[in-house]
Amino acid sequence: MTDSGASLSIDRLMTELMELAQISEAKPPVVTRVVFGEADMRARAYVKELCEAAGLAVRHDAIGNTFARWEGSDAHLAPVGTGSHIDAIPNAGLYDGCVGVLGGLEAIRVLQQLGYKPRRSIELVIFTAEEPTRFGIGCLGSRMMANVLTLKQALTLRDKEGRSLEEWREQAGFTGPLESVAVPAGRFHQFVEMHIEQGPYLEQEQLDVGLVTHIAAPASQRIVIEGEGGHAGGKLMPGRKDALAAAAELILALETAAKSTGAIDTVGTVGVCEVFPGAVNSIPSRVTMTTDVRDIDGVRRDGVLTALGGAIEEVGTRRGVKIAAELINADPPTTCDAAILAALEESAKQAGKRYKRMVARAYHDSSFVSCIAPTAMLFIPCRGGVSHRPDEYASPEWIGSGVHVLARTLAALSAQ
Ligand code: GLV
Ligand code: MN
Ligand code: MN
Repeated sequence: MTDSGASLSIDRLMTELMELAQISEAKPPVVTRVVFGEADMRARAYVKELCEAAGLAVRHDAIGNTFARWEGSDAHLAPVGTGSHIDAIPNAGLYDGCVGVLGGLEAIRVLQQLGYKPRRSIELVIFTAEEPTRFGIGCLGSRMMANVLTLKQALTLRDKEGRSLEEWREQAGFTGPLESVAVPAGRFHQFVEMHIEQGPYLEQEQLDVGLVTHIAAPASQRIVIEGEGGHAGGKLMPGRKDALAAAAELILALETAAKSTGAIDTVGTVGVCEVFPGAVNSIPSRVTMTTDVRDIDGVRRDGVLTALGGAIEEVGTRRGVKIAAELINADPPTTCDAAILAALEESAKQAGKRYKRMVARAYHDSSFVSCIAPTAMLFIPCRGGVSHRPDEYASPEWIGSGVHVLARTLAALSAQ
């Protein structure tokens, strides 16, 4: 394994990343690939072709999670998994998720070129809908694989137009019973996901890779505020039931609650706020908004949710508006596996890479895979910590370092 860095074809990988980025619902360089949309389907086909060209056996499950397998010498052993997602939120960049998928493929090709023969199979996984854009819930494919999202919950999922997950997946050609998506613990021997940091610290500290020890606990809610509409001129201020004014109070209450934990690790965001009817001269009668609260400490995160719950009660009563809050998810924090972290550390040392242990603040499919297999993550830097934006950027050198460390790690894990 001494020359896995030398065998790495960074030009091939960068070309593939750029080609994948061209497959977008938006005009490149903006990447938008919402799950099961036309661009997502074309991107899946593109990646599948690359995997098959590398001699991997590709199959998918009933929700479109895709598994590309490099058969090991002992086919009875549980495989080592790697991978991430290729769906992208509206107005995204090209590295989030894709670096873990195409970089994982490149790591496999490096090992193949070196003549390495894995004992355990190595499986590249492309998870369906890591992003919550269409169905409002993140990590849909990995959640279902780990049976964290039950079949009953999955059957209630709908997009904004009311189309169900069932309709979408069948249109995309993913058939078969949804309950077959869940896999038992032990399906993977171990799992390691490479991803961009989506934060600034590796770049600032001039490190090559980060070894992720914990993944922050995310929670999100959908809040609907029903007030009373009317003419913006005709209806005087006393007695108004303005749904957007109530929403504004809740947004600030969330910000205050997140800031007042005193921990830098607590974050709270309202990223969607839809106003009905949305006319200049009409009092908003309804607001639909989402909240996203995260922390590495699940109890502290829940404290913010409780404070927000208090604000919902108080604002609703005082303003005479009806507020319904639906919890979409409240996931626990993830602790990554010590043995995989040790293998990543040894690989980083052998590859001569500068590294540190760190926390993942975004959520990842790994959070859910960790429910069924020992799991860890490998971060690479991204410029300025910018992500979920078209100007997201990771240099070929950073990506190359990540693939080098990943290839060594996959070799070590698959030999066990
Ligand atoms: C995933 O993209 C997240 O929102 O953390
Ligand atoms: Mn993302
Ligand atoms: Mn991601």
